[in-house]
Amino acid sequence: MDQVLAMLRAAADPTRLRLLMLLSEAELTVSEITEILGQSQPRASRHLQLLCDAGLLDRIKEGAWVFYRGSDTTAAAALVRAFAQLTIAGADPILRDDEKRLQQVRAERARQAAKYFAANAAQWEKIRALHVSESEVERAVISLLRRASLHQVLDAGTGTGRMLELLAPHIRRGIGIDSSPEMLTIARDRLANAGILNCQVRRGDVYRLPFPDGDARDGFDAVLFHQVLHFLDDPQTAIREANRVLRSGGRFLFFLNHPLLQTPGSGWIDDRILDEQYWRIGPYLIEDRSLEEVEKDVHIPFVHRPLSRYVNAMVAADLFVERMEEPAPPPGFLARAEEYKEAATIPRLLFLVTRKGRR
Ligand SMILES: C[S@@+](CC[C@H](N)C(=O)[O-])C[C@H]1O[C@@H](n2cnc3c(N)ncnc32)[C@H](O)[C@@H]1O
Repeated sequence: MDQVLAMLRAAADPTRLRLLMLLSEAELTVSEITEILGQSQPRASRHLQLLCDAGLLDRIKEGAWVFYRGSDTTAAAALVRAFAQLTIAGADPILRDDEKRLQQVRAERARQAAKYFAANAAQWEKIRALHVSESEVERAVISLLRRASLHQVLDAGTGTGRMLELLAPHIRRGIGIDSSPEMLTIARDRLANAGILNCQVRRGDVYRLPFPDGDARDGFDAVLFHQVLHFLDDPQTAIREANRVLRSGGRFLFFLNHPLLQTPGSGWIDDRILDEQYWRIGPYLIEDRSLEEVEKDVHIPFVHRPLSRYVNAMVAADLFVERMEEPAPPPGFLARAEEYKEAATIPRLLFLVTRKGRR
């Protein structure tokens, strides 16, 4: 009871209630928060601190940035949901203005991300192949998807449309969404060249998917996020949005470089002095936003987060883990680099299949 009272006391203030509404929807930096609230930084920081102390918000350090977001503990999430119901979306002019300014902040972030992907669209296929082994991913996607009956599939952040091409023979209808027109041009070309008629791509934002609630009608049987979530500032919102457009019982499929074993700074160490070889794991618990140079002058922005950040976001969205795969790198991939032969027991990828709603 003490914890609930502390939460209620902390929330009982107009600015802090606004913060709770905002941060249940998005992860924001202090400067974004001050821009939305129209209050000074020290004032906003004081309110944020009080909400963090009461367990209603989390403070996350990502490299040089600090982000705030609604805590995903059950009690905090339930309380904020109740507040959201009581304040009635759209009815309060202050909350409505906050929401409008939040959309402006998001649009600016999306512009920044789009600039990068526009600049690198043509190179993406090459960059992608440097990071993962195509056949390894493709085998796993197909085997994971065979478990479910798939009519309608959404490929969120479809990029050059490779996943749609792969899935096309196994599904009735596929839609790819991406914010980058340059990526979509390549994807359209790819689908047309392959003669694929049951898949299409459209411009859209993974934070605001252009589809109705999946429970209401025509929900997706599966939503796929393939190598997308670690490029997003706010994976929690993207996961919640994916869940919204799924039909009840639909699957959310998560594919990422293995967050634990591929933490930045990880790698095979061949210590000739001590005569030891081992896989070093970088600072896993530190959320880290970096630019990785994958070839000369080609940089990929990358956010490392511990796996719990993603899994807890799925739990908060009522997604239930059905299956997890950590495939060993395939022989062909290992043969490409001498050091990988020794690292054959270290997976590069992590796949999770989750389901909307309980069985
Ligand atoms: C790393 S690529 C992955 C593409 C593809 N899924 C693949 O595996 O090849 C990430 C993609 O996400 C898209 N993206 C980033 N932020 C987005 C957003 N907010 N809404 C929609 N697409 C976004 C980028 O334009 C880019 O094409």
